[in-house]
Amino acid sequence: MLSLAASSQQHTLAQMFAADAKRASAMTVQANVGAQSLLVDVSKQNISSEILSALLDVVREAGVEQRRDAMFGGAIVNNTEQQPALHVALRSKAASNVSAAVAAERKKMTEFANGVRNGTICGATGKTFTHVVNVGIGGSDLGPRLVWEALSPVVKAGLQCRFVSNIDPLGVQQALQGLVAERTLVVMCSKTFSTSETLANSRAIAAWLESALGADAVAQHCAVVAVDAQKARAQNIAFAHSFAMWQWVGGRYSVSSAVNLCNMVAFGPEVHDQMLDGMRAIDEHFVSAPLQQNIPMVLGAIGVWNRSVLGRATHALISYSDALSSFAPYVQQLEMESNGKRVRTDGTPVSVETAPVIWGGVGTNSQHAYMQLLHQGTSVIPVDFIGFAKVLAQGSEEHDALVANMLAQSQALAFGRTADDAGDAALAEHRAMPGNRPSTTIIASQLSAATLGALIALYEHSTFVQGCIWDINSFDQWGVEHGKQLAATVAADIAEGTAGASHDSSTKSLLDWYLKHR
Ligand code: F6P
Repeated sequence: MLSLAASSQQHTLAQMFAADAKRASAMTVQANVGAQSLLVDVSKQNISSEILSALLDVVREAGVEQRRDAMFGGAIVNNTEQQPALHVALRSKAASNVSAAVAAERKKMTEFANGVRNGTICGATGKTFTHVVNVGIGGSDLGPRLVWEALSPVVKAGLQCRFVSNIDPLGVQQALQGLVAERTLVVMCSKTFSTSETLANSRAIAAWLESALGADAVAQHCAVVAVDAQKARAQNIAFAHSFAMWQWVGGRYSVSSAVNLCNMVAFGPEVHDQMLDGMRAIDEHFVSAPLQQNIPMVLGAIGVWNRSVLGRATHALISYSDALSSFAPYVQQLEMESNGKRVRTDGTPVSVETAPVIWGGVGTNSQHAYMQLLHQGTSVIPVDFIGFAKVLAQGSEEHDALVANMLAQSQALAFGRTADDAGDAALAEHRAMPGNRPSTTIIASQLSAATLGALIALYEHSTFVQGCIWDINSFDQWGVEHGKQLAATVAADIAEGTAGASHDSSTKSLLDWYLKHR
């Protein structure tokens, strides 16, 4: 690979495009998503066709296809938790040992969502619900929040969604602002129902309901989504409705489960089903498309190339749609919690860099914020540009300008501008742009539940492909536990009003300062 890395430095993107008129068509793949489609162009990545086929050899040698089939087949791919990773079963039509349970739960969610929407399921005072508050964090928040923000501009909502995730009391305050308790439904989402933020926020909102409606009314306004709803009951969380998650679904892979209940209620179950259809279209593409035409395989291989071979430490996701402002945060958890690992599945240290820092935002705002560094900085940062041919029913000059900017940014990164072309000889060096900077462009024909589902599944699978090549377990997250335990110790000290002796001098002095100023 290193020799290929060296060769990739020999030919700039400009030279490779000049040498091969078919480069763009050879490195563009399209996938159908029902009546819509997704187009992915990787020709502005620092790869030749020789490098791409060598990367796909790496995919073969790493046994990614076999691991994919094992995952889809329900094998124990999460070896440290001894669990399958069967998020694909949540949208699969194929019969399996979980399909009956999945179908039964989907039916229950659908009946509940329709009941809330038609008013047969209503609040304790008999009033219909107008708002649904999702309480959850991480995978129990980022997915449903993304779906709400992405679809509310293009799908009519029967109820409004609000989200509470952080332990910061401002979160509950802002989410409940202007809400009327008797018309508010609360969905408490937690796979483990042991997450302190979600427990605290659930209690705070239950107290708000109780103060307005009385203790007996609280349960009728609350639904729980968890692997074991009894855990919520054991935490004295009152609820009248509960929906199952399963151990074999990772939190960050759970948006196709009941974790998306708030959006089923807001938009209708059929919209959730359309999202699942889009996800399934990409699942089927991932399983059946030959490697060269297999988008998750190609994106995953290029991800490893940029990170482990070319040493690019971060990866930017820039969505040219305000509707996707939560997409980068969603993929941040997906990729960084999945592949932010330093040991292989067998526990031995990895020998190459693994997951990059995922960050990003929305274009064209990005152009007036950090694109300066991406164009002229000393770091080369691969970018995924994500956009839609159509968002609102009516096309517009503004939307054309949005897409024009997206295409122009990938062009400017790829081809830059020499000092000669920069004009103004005095500033030529300041205005020159090196170019040869990599990007992938992903365009969906239309922003819809189906294409949103397809985009999500695409990143789920490219994350998996990278994890396979690095031979790491993409489905555990042991690294998040220690900080939580330390937080409990510090919180106990704060409750005691004195910094414990166990702390280092920095934590102790910070605690002492906080105790004095709180
Ligand atoms: O702390 C990380 C994490 O476990 C994520 O993996 C998960 O998505 C999130 O916390 C929330 O967990 P739960 O759904 O169990 O509350």
